[in-house]
Amino acid sequence: MPPPPGSDELVFFVNGRKVTERDIDPEVTLLTFLRRNLGLTGTKSACGGGGCGACTVMLSRHDPASGKPRHVSIPACLVPLCSLHGAAITTVEGVGSIRTRVHPVQERIARSHGTQCGFCTPGMVMSLYTLLRNHPQPSEEQLADALAGNLCRCTGYRPILESGRTFCSDSHGCGQSGAGWCCLDRPGDDSSPPGSSGLQAHVCSELLPKAEFQPWDPSQEPIFPPELTRMAESPERRSLTFRGDRVTWVSPGGLRELLELKAQHPEAPLVLGNTALGPASKPHGRVHPLLISPARVPELSAVTESRDGLTIGAGCSLAQLQDVLAKSISELPEEKTQTLRALATALRKLAGQQVRNLASLGGHVMSRQSSSDLNPILAVGRAALHLLSEGGARLMPLDELFLAGTASAGLRPGEILESVHVPYSRKREFVSGFRQAQAPQNAMPHVSAGMRVLLAEGTNAIEDLSIAYGGLGATAVMAPRSCQQLLGKPWTEETLDEACRLVLGEVAIPGPAPGGRVEFRRTLLVSFLFRFYLQVLRELRRGRAPGAPSTLSDIWRYPRLPDQSLGALEDLPVTVPQGMQTYQRVDPQQPSQDPVGRPVMHLSGLKHATGEAVFCDDLPRVDRELSMALVTSTRPHARIVSVDPAEALRLPGVADVITAKDIPGTNGTEDDRLLAVDEVLCVGQVICAVVAETDEQAKRATERVRVTYEDLEPVVFSIQDAMRQNSFLCPEKKLEQGNVEEAFEKADRVIEGEVHVGGQEHFYMETQRVLVIPKAGDGELDIYASTQDPAHVQKTVSLTLNVPHNQVTCHVKRVGGGFGGKVGKPAALGAIAAVGAIKTGRAVRLVLDREDDMLITGGRHPLFGKYKVGFKDSGRIKALDIECYINGGCTLGDSELVTEFLILKLENAYKIRNLRFRGRACRTNLPSNTAFRGFGFPQGALVTEACITAVAAKCGLPPEKVREKNMYKTVDKTIYKQAFSPEPLRQCWAECLERADLPGRRARADAFNQQNPWRKRGVAAVPMKFSVGFAATSYHQAAALVHVYTDGSVLVAHGGSELGQGIHTKMLQVASRELRVPMSRLHTQETSTATVPNTVATAASIGADANGKAVQNACQTLLKRLEPIIKKNAEGTWEDWIEAAFEQRISLSATGYFRGYKAFMDWEKGEGEPFPYYVFGAACSEVEIDCLTGAHRKLRTDIVMDAGCSLNPALDVGQVEGAFLQGAGLYTSEELHYSPEGALLSRGPAEYKIPTAADVPEELNVTLLPSSQTQLTLYSSKGLGESGMFLGSSVFFAISDAVTAARRDRGLAEDCTVRSPATPERVRMACQDRFTEMIPREDPGTAKPWSIPIA
Ligand SMILES: Cc1cc2nc3c(=O)[nH]c(=O)nc-3n(C[C@H](O)[C@H](O)[C@H](O)COP(=O)(O)OP(=O)(O)OC[C@H]3O[C@@H](n4cnc5c(N)ncnc54)[C@H](O)[C@@H]3O)c2cc1C
Ligand code: FES
Ligand code: FES
Repeated sequence: MPPPPGSDELVFFVNGRKVTERDIDPEVTLLTFLRRNLGLTGTKSACGGGGCGACTVMLSRHDPASGKPRHVSIPACLVPLCSLHGAAITTVEGVGSIRTRVHPVQERIARSHGTQCGFCTPGMVMSLYTLLRNHPQPSEEQLADALAGNLCRCTGYRPILESGRTFCSDSHGCGQSGAGWCCLDRPGDDSSPPGSSGLQAHVCSELLPKAEFQPWDPSQEPIFPPELTRMAESPERRSLTFRGDRVTWVSPGGLRELLELKAQHPEAPLVLGNTALGPASKPHGRVHPLLISPARVPELSAVTESRDGLTIGAGCSLAQLQDVLAKSISELPEEKTQTLRALATALRKLAGQQVRNLASLGGHVMSRQSSSDLNPILAVGRAALHLLSEGGARLMPLDELFLAGTASAGLRPGEILESVHVPYSRKREFVSGFRQAQAPQNAMPHVSAGMRVLLAEGTNAIEDLSIAYGGLGATAVMAPRSCQQLLGKPWTEETLDEACRLVLGEVAIPGPAPGGRVEFRRTLLVSFLFRFYLQVLRELRRGRAPGAPSTLSDIWRYPRLPDQSLGALEDLPVTVPQGMQTYQRVDPQQPSQDPVGRPVMHLSGLKHATGEAVFCDDLPRVDRELSMALVTSTRPHARIVSVDPAEALRLPGVADVITAKDIPGTNGTEDDRLLAVDEVLCVGQVICAVVAETDEQAKRATERVRVTYEDLEPVVFSIQDAMRQNSFLCPEKKLEQGNVEEAFEKADRVIEGEVHVGGQEHFYMETQRVLVIPKAGDGELDIYASTQDPAHVQKTVSLTLNVPHNQVTCHVKRVGGGFGGKVGKPAALGAIAAVGAIKTGRAVRLVLDREDDMLITGGRHPLFGKYKVGFKDSGRIKALDIECYINGGCTLGDSELVTEFLILKLENAYKIRNLRFRGRACRTNLPSNTAFRGFGFPQGALVTEACITAVAAKCGLPPEKVREKNMYKTVDKTIYKQAFSPEPLRQCWAECLERADLPGRRARADAFNQQNPWRKRGVAAVPMKFSVGFAATSYHQAAALVHVYTDGSVLVAHGGSELGQGIHTKMLQVASRELRVPMSRLHTQETSTATVPNTVATAASIGADANGKAVQNACQTLLKRLEPIIKKNAEGTWEDWIEAAFEQRISLSATGYFRGYKAFMDWEKGEGEPFPYYVFGAACSEVEIDCLTGAHRKLRTDIVMDAGCSLNPALDVGQVEGAFLQGAGLYTSEELHYSPEGALLSRGPAEYKIPTAADVPEELNVTLLPSSQTQLTLYSSKGLGESGMFLGSSVFFAISDAVTAARRDRGLAEDCTVRSPATPERVRMACQDRFTEMIPREDPGTAKPWSIPIA
């Protein structure tokens, strides 16, 4: 039967304004509507799948039961517009504005320096704002929960959390109180910890200007629209229908209508939260012609309590379920609430708050996702499903048949789930849920589990047992046979062993199972069983005397449950981090109006927070604009036989398909084409592009372009394959000094080792995007791009179109994060879009969605390193030979440069007389890897530090002793013969170890490890010598253009792109000092090739330094011109002088130029001065690992950095903290997976885990060394953009230290192969024990793996 004709009127409110829409397409999401129809571009799109929080808005509905509105944060990208009838939406624009009033939430996040690029900020603001609407004085736990679903790639979260903490009722100050000292009770402003050397004087830690914050008054918030209250109090009972081109949405007004409709359309899905359906129905995905929304059926939201359990309506959101469970748990006796508690615990880690607010219990249960957190617990908890249809009601058990999706245990046609019944637990019944994921928060579990046991009264015999697992295969599974066989057995170690054996036999995870990590997941099956066994025992033994202590060596083999082992069974906690940021205060003699050296807020901070900061895709649509989407290769190496666009061209809205033949000029280079011609070299290579009226039409059409391929050989993916097949992109780079072979012979010992470092995805929050606008008449083009290198975009577009550079202007307002990933790719994408614009004569917008961005653009080079090191027993290294191979992908790109930087920087902080470093870039059939913060150093230096750690282990010395012994001590020359002074390096190192109290910390960690067989703590410190700048003189130049207008206002333009690092802020600080004009009189508009030509990419940590010198030069020129006027009228104002200058026909516009540092490298001789200067630093981290699951928590990190004289300590500390956390992600959680066919499998936040707020160390202290002077750089400042990245490796080595402690307990040998990232999988599998020994091993080569290693 066709759906009812015609569309109803949809009524909802946005920011207090009524919206009525009749012509609604059910496929349109709230996010699209806000951005496209209402022009509310503050709400951002960064993943489109609910996983990043950038699109968070507040949804409010009147709740007739309480008589009050209920406010929840939701991800607008997943919300169908049709679902909003009767709702009020608040976006970031509705919270506050710089034009009217900035809300305290917005003000505090900006003033706390919680914004860098600002792309995540509106989402953060909305999560915090919603929290405050519900809890005006939230707890820190509520704050952590509220932000768990929001990702930020720039700040490292600490300042965002700090800003949120200013609203909390239980704020704990700076976190130093544990050390007996806290900034909140410090005398005066001097916040240096007692006893810390050298830094006591003139330091400051006030990056949080609390005194300036406006007060927060919850009573001032807008009221809920009365019209919506009336609608909710007397709801319409008729069905509402909204019709689109492909999909019809029907929202029945009551249960009877719902059942009728479902009976007529049994195949139509019910949409509740749309968090399962939505991601699966993206434009190129599956289409359901009819969607049924039961949101207006109150029966589905009912919650009832009976004698034997809770019955929860299928329509209740997971957040409502949390409230229901919390209430019951607080009211009922503990023995009845075992299942409820297990569910409540699982819910805290299930997704982020936004998704839990949207997702429903019914949708969760019925989507039967394999890695469900709740279904295994519901299944073991004997939950039952209340099903309804026109034919009547029935009860169905949520059992193994249901989980497996068996037809007989599913819904019958026309049936819906009305509610879920969860029985109360019984006396001596225990229920637990378990999960292990890649990250502590906002991550789907690798394995989830539910376990329940009922012990017979008066004995410890098993009367009933139930075990279920999620995440193992296509569906969640149970182990009924194993449970059956264990009935009657006592709750003992022996039974546990038998249970493990039985479960491993019954629950199979096939070798090629999706998700990979097969042996790890098998291990988790039994590790969870063990944890459950202990938990039950703990409950049984509650109040009893502890058992006799056992020795550590048999605890791991047959734990006899000493108290400390039981205590270790809690999940690792998630806390809001504490810490201190310390920097040098400016000289008291410095004029108060001079902002240099002061922690000035990011110029766009408030605009980021109010959503008024305009990013590339926020630019309004221009007349007749087209959207572009890319067709990419599905083969790793193939000849293109044909490209047939005919079917795509026939689709509605499609304007054209752009192929290589349409390019009027040059199609990239011979081996790196913009659009593929005859051959493709990797999956994800761009073949052609579709332009259409809308984004959705363009995306759909890409699926219809038929490409036929003929596969080619060879196909190479991994570094090892490339080495075997001699597949390289460029010649070897080599540096050598001393006599390595002779020194090996004289060494006391020689060891060899291998290091594998995985790649990294930039995961800038703003994906690649560009808008090309052809201008009528003169053949000119304006290009608005999110790029670090506008001149490169201009040049590439002009070459592609065969027009001179002067007809192409590239504009960059701001970039939502770059990290190196927007140096090269925007030029290629801009050029492809420009071809589309020229061919169609219309503006073209190309916005990559997250999946395509991750698929198409390369990232950090994976590395494989081999070292051979000769050393004395004292730890002094006599000779070191390192060979590195990086995976460059299919084209040269930056790989040769990365190899050079890698080799130049490998020595890090160490003076080793006999050295040999070699590096090569491998050619593989993967997307070409590119620049990424640190440019090879974070991977290479890990090899060096791993080698030092191995030497320390062999010498029986703490690694920091070996580091210190081999560190540069006095003025010396590097391996490439560049002289430098290591004084600041040694200062950073000494200060860091002292602040962190490394010896004391290590002793306490050792004591902890003695007591805890299943938890281990590790400590590590790393030093860093990071060279700043490009290794080429021509790259060290910059220009600026400064205009003074007759009203005295100043416009500053320079060649740097604003990526979030605050370059515009720093440039105005420079101009303000030079011109002696307050910053409020200065402005920067954008970076444009028309204002400052021939610029260099904003990269290599040198952007502010070089451009600042150019700005300084321009300002000094202007001031020189004004000098006679100022002399004549010394008492005059700036405005007087400018007026006089104009009268006297003195030019008020000046260019500035910086003819920068010399940098050269003679690779033949192995000598040069490739870098202008070094940044030094050190970090010390302490972690705790959970040996059973491989999870870790970062207890504390202390960082000391040498920033010279910081231009702006707030921005510099932000760079250090952000880079540190990005580094910690590289070394612990960010893991790329490729299929055996070379296709990237991890293409979004669900599969690729960048750090979340829960990954920030529980105590994070950052100290900038006292100012040091150098003539070389701008006001003696140093560029800190990249260096902090490597300091994240302190976390990696601390984890390795903890793993070593675990292995030592177990009598295992040291593992000489180092693999980064140290994921839970790797940590768990390294902490071998009887559980890892139990699992069946995969015979390599027997089954096709799910993913393949490439490093
Ligand atoms: C970013 C993100 C992170 C996530 N993280 C986790 C996680 O960590 N752990 C975890 O377990 N899950 C996680 N999930 C999955 C999430 O729990 C489910 O997507 C969600 O619970 C589904 O509920 P929904 O209301 O959105 O379902 P919908 O998408 O609305 O519907 C899903 C399916 O259920 C059917 N259905 C819904 N209601 C009924 C009914 N009453 N009767 C019959 N059929 C019905 C629909 O027909 C549809 O086929 C995550 C999801 C996202 C998007
Ligand atoms: S864009 Fe909506 S959550 Fe990422
Ligand atoms: S400031 Fe958070 S993503 Fe850039």
